[in-house]
Order: sequence, then C-alpha cells, then structure tokens
Amino acid sequence: MCGIVGYVGPRPSEGILLSGLARLEYRGYDSAGIAVIDADGTLGMRKRAGKLSVLRDDLDRAPLADGTTGIGHTRWATHGGPTDQNAHPHLADGGKLAVIHNGIIENFAALKAELVAGGAEFLSETDTEVAAVLLAREYHAHGDDLEAAFRATVRRLEGAFTLLALHEEHPGLVVGARRNSPLVIGLGEGENFLGSDVAAFVEHTRHALAIGQDQIVAITPEGVRVTDFDGAEVGVEPFEVTWDAAAAEKGGWSSFMAKEVSEEPDAVANTIRGRFHDDAVAIPELEGMDAVFAGIHRIIVVACGTASYAGQVGKYALEQWSRVPVDVELAHEFRYRDPVLDSSTLVVSISQSGETMDTLMAVKYARERGAATLSICNTQGATIPRESDAVVYTHAGPEVAVASTKAFVAQITALYLLALHIGRVRGALSAQDSARAVAELEAVPGKIQWILDNEQERTAHLARWMADTRSVLFLGRHVGFPIALEGALKLKEISYIHAEGFAAGELKHGPIALIEPGQPVFVIVPSPVHSAMLHDKVVSNIQEIRARGARVIVIAEEGDAAVLPFADEVLHIPLAGPAFEPLLAVVPLHIFAMGLAEAKGLDVDQPRNLAKSVTVE
Ligand code: G6P
Repeated sequence: MCGIVGYVGPRPSEGILLSGLARLEYRGYDSAGIAVIDADGTLGMRKRAGKLSVLRDDLDRAPLADGTTGIGHTRWATHGGPTDQNAHPHLADGGKLAVIHNGIIENFAALKAELVAGGAEFLSETDTEVAAVLLAREYHAHGDDLEAAFRATVRRLEGAFTLLALHEEHPGLVVGARRNSPLVIGLGEGENFLGSDVAAFVEHTRHALAIGQDQIVAITPEGVRVTDFDGAEVGVEPFEVTWDAAAAEKGGWSSFMAKEVSEEPDAVANTIRGRFHDDAVAIPELEGMDAVFAGIHRIIVVACGTASYAGQVGKYALEQWSRVPVDVELAHEFRYRDPVLDSSTLVVSISQSGETMDTLMAVKYARERGAATLSICNTQGATIPRESDAVVYTHAGPEVAVASTKAFVAQITALYLLALHIGRVRGALSAQDSARAVAELEAVPGKIQWILDNEQERTAHLARWMADTRSVLFLGRHVGFPIALEGALKLKEISYIHAEGFAAGELKHGPIALIEPGQPVFVIVPSPVHSAMLHDKVVSNIQEIRARGARVIVIAEEGDAAVLPFADEVLHIPLAGPAFEPLLAVVPLHIFAMGLAEAKGLDVDQPRNLAKSVTVE
C-alpha cells in the first residue's frame, strides 16, 4: 500500500514523478503528492486528497517550479484520514525537508511525545510526519549531513517502512530506507530512480537493483550507494525487468481488469513456457530443491485473498500428484497461532505482488522455525521471493487492476507444475500420468480463449441484466469450492454487493436457509469426466435450491446435458476434467464481476477502500 517514487537526474522531475505515480496508483489512491527541489535550490511541494488526477489538475492550474530532484507518493491511509493535510510528502525543518513513507511506524506515539516535549509542532495525524520531524532534528545534530541523519532516524523507528527524503540544501540527492516494505532502484544513464516496484520507472529503464531488508540507499545522478542502517556498504543484486512499459498500459481496453482478463490465456501459457522437457516438468529455478522435496512430510500453503484460493485449488493437485499432505492457511492466521513446523515441512507462499505483509511475516516465521520455504510470485525483485529458499515465478506480466484475475490462473498453473515436479521427485506419480497432465495443462490456454471468444458477451449481458441484484451466492464442490469463494470475493471487491461462496455439500447445514424466491445462485458444476459421483451430487444440490425458488446460473462443461433441465442460465466452458476445470470455471466469474461493476458505473480497477499490495499487517 502506498506507492513511492524518487528521481535524480538532468530532466525536469515533475512529469517523471507523476507518470511513475500513475503506474503505482494501484497501491493506494486516496491522496497523492510530490516534492521537487527547483533550479534555485528551493523545495516546492504539492499534495491533494483524492486520486492522482486531482493532484494533476492542481499542478496544471498552478505548476511547481521545474526541478530535477524529486519524490512522489500515492497514499492508502493508515494513520489519519485521506485529507490534504495527511497526504504525503510531509515537510519539516521549516519546509526545507520532505519525507514520504509506506508502512506503519509502530512507535510513532512515543517518538511524537518525545518531539513534542522538545517543542516540535505537528500539522497532520500521520506517523510519517513524526519521521520527518525526527529527521530534521537529527539533521542539525549531525552537522547537516542528510545521510548520517537519515541513518540515525531509521535506527529509531520500529515497524514497517519505506522512507524517502530530500533536503533543499542537498539538490541531486534522494535518500531511502526500507524495513519490511518494498523499495527498488532503477539505474539510468546520468539519472537514477527509486520506486515501490519497477513499474515506477520501467518506462525509463529496465535495469534494476533489489535492496535488502534494513538497508539505506542514496541516489545521485552519478550513482547509487547502498548501506546498512549503520552505514556499512552492502552488495546489491542487479536484475533486468522482463516486461516493458507497454505491458503496464491499458492499450485501448476499457479498464486494466478487462485487459488482464483477456490476458488469462497468456498468463497460463507464459507460466508453463520453458518448464516442460520431454513431456515432464522441468523448472530450472527448483534445481537444488529436490532433496528437500524428497524429505518433506507436509506442505503448508500460506497466502491472502485471491492467492489463498489459488492455494486451495493447488492443494488438490499437490495431494493427488505428490501424495504429501497439504494444509492451506491464511497467512495472518498461520503466523500467530504457534504452528508446528520443522525441517520436514515445506511452506509454499503465494503472492502476486510478493509484498503482502501478512504473507511475508508468515514466510519469515516459517524460516525461523526451520521449515523449507518456496514462493510462488509474479513480481521480480519482490521481498517474499527474496526471503524464501526458492521461487517459482508466475509469468502473468504486470497486474494493475486491484482485483486479481490473470495472476490467479497463473498461480494455479505454477502450483500444478510444482505438484507434478514433486510427484515425480518422490516417485508418487508415473511418467505416463505426468505426461498426460502436462498435455492437459498445455491445452488450457486455448480453452480459456474459447470462453473469452464464445461466452464473454453472454456473461457480461447477464451481469448487466443483474445490475440491481443485492446478493449473489456461489456454490462449488471439491476444486469448485475455492472457485466459488473466488467468484464471491471478486463480486464483493469490485461491485460492493453481498456475495458468499459455499461448499455445495455444506448447503443443507445452513446456507440453504438463505434461499428465497429469486435469489441468484451460481453453481460450479463438477466435471462429468471421471467424477460422476461428485457431479451427480451437485446436480441434486441444484434441484434442492431450485425447488426453493433460487435463480440458478450454472457453469458447466460443454456436453453436460444433465444440468440443463434445472438451470435458469448455463455458462459453458470447454470439457476439462476435474483437475483442470478450476482454470476455466473461474473465467466467467471474473467476467461476471467486472460486467456487474461496470453496469453499476463503478471504477473496476480501483475499488473503494482497497489497495492491490497490502504492505501493512
Ligand atoms: C489484496 C488484493 C487482492 C489480493 C491480495 C493478495 O487483498 O486486493 O486482490 O488477492 O491482496 O495479494 P498478493 O499480492 O499477495 O497476491
């Protein structure tokens, strides 16, 4: 949450900061601001509550003086509501020093009391302003040495933070620090960048450096210096961004979400590309992990939100193909319940952003307890893969819309690859079964494309027709259950209507009481292939709710004639079989949620109160 960008170089920084913030707006969008040191060496600052467009309009009306050193921030409020005053940057030292921040400074109250006792005054309710005022005090205590003052400041802070600061007496210098919050460096020619992620600067450079935990960076036009909090220089890992700025543009689509749903076939195809050899899974990143896989007795998958539902789908594949018992846990629940962990446990984390604080804390905890850790992640250079023993990247490309779509199918795909690999390593899966699964996985992108080509318009029409609906229920069984949960979450996230997902088998144990005439219920019908028993049970469930007046919308594989007599609407997906059905069944649910939100006139990319990357616990 909160997007951060910094720039030093020869070019006017305002445009660079604003376009960086536009690419980071998915991280938070309740206020935005920039601070720039102008050619005369004076610090100018502007910040406004509301989306970035409000700040842009303000700057168009009354521009800041041009300057080539600057920082910018887009906020997701934690301390203090989304007002102009609480927006970042926060100034100190008589307006000469500016600070922006992502995270939560947990000891801010004690620090504030200390500073107030020393005569300091505060203009906002934020924890960030405390850091700014503390930095100003340290600046004078350290003979106006900004870097030394910054080190002294961050050593006093507790909690999670990425902080950037500049001071008008030091044009051409931006300092930054990170602890449990993201910060990456972009390396240009005679210019350098800082960003919450590479999206902040990818239109200018694809050369990047990942900064480690508890490190400080100082960027000037000539170079980059990274130290620990005590000032000792440390090595940093360079990496190349594998996508270009165009990949993070809307490119003619009505929304990023529409674009990203259209990219679901590619997300799967790119995640499997280069990971098969002779009909078997071969994942280069997992070299060196086979001894771990051979020795584990248990797998725990940790994740939040949509990623946790991908984990629930993955559980079926992992257990079926590797025969290792799997638990799937919400990262925040796992972390604080003293779980039993040892070196025979593999903790698999799933995170699109690689920065979700709850998931990061769960991974660190698992590592400290001696478990092996593996991350499934979509973002290069992100913190969670860096804190894990191994990583399998999903190659979904940048996901900008807050509600996750293409990353979800890519996460399931990566989990399937992992399951097939572990199954082969442990001898639990025959080469023949593995080859069959590989072939089916390779067919998935084409099948998703079929849904987009043939069922998208009808699904969107259904959504428009249901725009006034106040509540929607989703039922699924086996691998369809997490898909029901994902369908409900997507609807809540972007269309703000009540939605619940249930295990179809649980229907009689409570949820059926919710059914009244006209209640819309989506039912994900299990594949009729190889699982007639499950299929028939869900068909019975459909009859039970229909008998009570529910309006039943089924998602069924092509040729599944058994459901037709009992459905008010049928959304078809290609024949897939039980293991691969989730990768298809979720697509109409993504389209439906998006269509309904659009019909209500809502901003599907930036839903209220949410942020894509949740970097606070
Ligand atoms: C937030 C987003 C969700 C996302 C979840 C996990 O809650 O709104 O869309 O699924 O974070 O994010 P991650 O980046 O860890 O996959």
